[in-house]
Amino acid sequence: MIAYDEQHGVFRLDTPHTSYCMGLVDGKYLGHLYYGKKLSDMDLSYLFCPNDAPLPPSADPAEKGSFIGCFPAEYPTSGTGDFRESCVDVRTQKGQNGLELLYQSHRIYQGKEPLTGLPSTFGKNCDTLEITLRDAGLSFTVILSYTAFTDTDVITRTARMVNEGTSFVMLTRALSASLTLPDDGMEILTLNGAWARERHIERQKLSGAGTVIESVRGEPGHVMHPFFALLTPGTDQTKGEVYAMNFVYSGNFLAKVQRDQYGQLRAVMGIHPQNFSWKLLQNESFQAPEVVLTYSSCGLNGMTHTFHDFYRNHLIRSPWLHKRRPILINNWEATYFDYNSDKLLSIAKEAGKAGIEMLVMDDGWFGAHRDAPTGSLGDWVVNKRKIPEGLKSFSDKVHAEGLKFGLWFEPEMVSFDSDLYRAHPDWVLRTADRRPVMIRDQAVLDFCRPETVEYITESIAKILRSAKIEYLKWDMNRSLCDLGSAYLSQDQQGEISHRHVLALYRIQGKLLEEFPDLLLENCSSGGARFDPGMLYFSPQIWCSDNMDPMERLMITEGTALIYPLSTIGSHVCKSPNDITGRETPFETRALVSMLGNFGYELDITRLPEEERKMIPCQIALYKKVAPLIREGDYYHIASFRENHIYDCTEIVSKDKTKAVMLFVQVLSEANVRGRIIRLQGLDADKVYEIEGRRYHGDTLMNAGFVVERIKGDFRAKLFEIQESDSVSSSPRP
Ligand code: GLA
Repeated sequence: MIAYDEQHGVFRLDTPHTSYCMGLVDGKYLGHLYYGKKLSDMDLSYLFCPNDAPLPPSADPAEKGSFIGCFPAEYPTSGTGDFRESCVDVRTQKGQNGLELLYQSHRIYQGKEPLTGLPSTFGKNCDTLEITLRDAGLSFTVILSYTAFTDTDVITRTARMVNEGTSFVMLTRALSASLTLPDDGMEILTLNGAWARERHIERQKLSGAGTVIESVRGEPGHVMHPFFALLTPGTDQTKGEVYAMNFVYSGNFLAKVQRDQYGQLRAVMGIHPQNFSWKLLQNESFQAPEVVLTYSSCGLNGMTHTFHDFYRNHLIRSPWLHKRRPILINNWEATYFDYNSDKLLSIAKEAGKAGIEMLVMDDGWFGAHRDAPTGSLGDWVVNKRKIPEGLKSFSDKVHAEGLKFGLWFEPEMVSFDSDLYRAHPDWVLRTADRRPVMIRDQAVLDFCRPETVEYITESIAKILRSAKIEYLKWDMNRSLCDLGSAYLSQDQQGEISHRHVLALYRIQGKLLEEFPDLLLENCSSGGARFDPGMLYFSPQIWCSDNMDPMERLMITEGTALIYPLSTIGSHVCKSPNDITGRETPFETRALVSMLGNFGYELDITRLPEEERKMIPCQIALYKKVAPLIREGDYYHIASFRENHIYDCTEIVSKDKTKAVMLFVQVLSEANVRGRIIRLQGLDADKVYEIEGRRYHGDTLMNAGFVVERIKGDFRAKLFEIQESDSVSSSPRP
C-alpha cells in the first residue's frame, strides 16, 4: 500500500509489517523520515525537526547550505551543499559538476514495471511510487522508483536519470538508493572472503566515519558481497532490528554506510563510481540497477526468511525453480583437463548404476588444445582428440547410460592461443595498446562490440542445437582490468564495465529464450558472481570451489543468510580435499552437500567399493529431503564459525509438518555429554517424531532435542522430524 498525504507532503509505503516514509520540505526538498516497524500515523513530518536550526531555505535562505548539509536527503546529490556521500553527479559540457534535484511530481500505480536491460524483481502483489526530481538549470531529471510488496516485507528501489537538456551530460555517478537511519549504536554485518572462502559472515561495530563495501573487479568478486545489514545492538537470530540492502547487479558496486555529524547514518548502494561514466545525449536515459531493502524486527531469521521467499517468489524465473535439479556428477576435480570420452563414459556408466542423473563435462572439451588453462578459450568447437565421436554422439552415449548431459563454457574470455584471438585481436579489452594483464592466462572479450557478443551468443547456441544438452555451467574466471575498448569512442570508455554486464545479461536472456528448459548454473572461479542479478537468469549458482565440508559450513552459512538453499550448487568432493588437504568421512561430505543442489565431483570409478555402495542410499535420502531443502524455511541454529566446535542447521516445511536437522560435529571433545539443541520454527502445539520418539513442538523449541554424543571429528548426522498423528506417553496437561 502506498499513500500520499498532500497536506503535509508525506509519502508512506507499507508492507505487511513495515512502513517507509518520506516527506517534502518547502514542497521541494525530498527527505527520508522513517523506515521500520509498521506505523499507524501518516504525518511524520515532525521528524524533520522543522523548528530547529538550520531552518528550511524558505525561512532562512542565508543558511540554505547548513540546511542541505544536514537534511536527510532521500536521493543526495553532490556539489550543491551536501558534503556527505552522494548518489548522483554529472559533468556538463562546460566541464562543471553539481546537481540540485527538487521534487517535481509523482505517480502511484499498481504492480511493477521491468527495468530495461537489467534483471529486476517482479510480482503482482505490489504497488509502485515514482517520484520525479529535477534540476531545472540543467534540465536533468531523476525518477526514483519504489515498489512496496504486499505479500512480503520488501521495498525495492531504483533510479532513472534523463537528460532533457540540449547539450550532452556525462553521468559520473549513478547510485541506486540511499537510506537515512538514526545512529543507534548499530553494528554492521557483511559477507567477506576470498577465493575458496566466499561470503563468510563478519560483524562489527560501525566505526568512525563508517564502512565501505565495494568491488571494482567488473563483478562482485570473492572479497566483498553487494549486501549489508545494519543491526541494533544485541541482535541475534531471533531478536533485534535488522535493516538490509542487497544489490540486483553482477558488476562493480559500492555500498557505504556513513555516519554524519548529526547522529544520522547514510547508507548508499549502487554501481561503483570508479572508472564509471555514461554519456547522455539529449533525451537519453540511464537506468540504475535495483536495490532490495528489507527490515526485520525479529532478528536475522526474519531477514533471511524474507530474502529467501522474496527471491523464490519474485526474482528467479527459471522453470527449474520448484523442481528437483538432476543429481549430477561433474568431472572437474575428478580429472581436471586430463580426460577423453572413454574416461568420461566410464564415469557415466558407474554414475548411472549408482543412481546419479546427469554428467557435466567441465573445462577442457573444446578448442585445439585445452589441456591447460593456457589456450582455446573462445574456440567453442569440440576437441576431436578428446571427444573423437563428436558432441552429439558423445551426448547420445551419456544418455544411453540413463544420464542427462551438461557442458561447461567460459564465454566472456579469450586465450591468446586461440583461433578467435588470431582472427580478431581487436576484440579484447586493452588500454594504451599494451598487452592486457593476463589472469589464468586469459584476456577479457570486449562485450561493447556487437560482433563479439553476436559471435559468442551464436557459438553457444550452435553447440546447444547440435546435441542434447540439458545443463550449462557458465563460468567466468578472472576480474576485468585494462578497461579500454577499440569499439567505443573516447568519451564512452567509462561505460565498459557496465556495458559488459548488460551484454552478459543480454546473452543469457537470449539463450534462455531459445532454450527455455535449459538448466543454467552460473559460476565465477567458484562463487565470485553469486548475486541476485545472476539469479534472475539461473536458478542456481556454483557457490565455491571449496567443497571441503568443514569449510563449506561457513560458506553456506553466509550464502544462505540471504539466498535460498535451492540456489546453491553443492558437490561431494574427494578426500583428502584438493584445496585443504583435509580428510573427511564420505558420509559427512554427502550430508553437508545436501544443503543445496546435490551432486558429486570425484572419480566414481576410483572410489572404494564400500563408498560407492553408499551412493544409492545418499541419493535416496537427498530425494526425500530435497523438497524441504528447496522450499522450506531455513534456520541456522548453531554456528561453527562462532563456537569452533559444531554446526547445526534446520529446515522446516512451510506448513510445519516436517523438518530436517543437520548436526555437524567438527571437533570432538573429551568428557562431554549429549548436546542439547533447541529447535526453531516448529508448531508449539504439534507433536513431532524424531528417531521413534515423540515430542511436542514447544518441548523441542524450549527444552530441546538431545544429539547423543558422537565420537570423532568431522562427523555429521541428519535427523528427520515429522509431525506425528497421536500424542505419545506424555500427553499435554
Ligand atoms: C572454475 C570453476 C570450477 C571449474 C574450473 C574449470 O574455477 O569454479 O568449478 O569449472 O573453473 O576451469
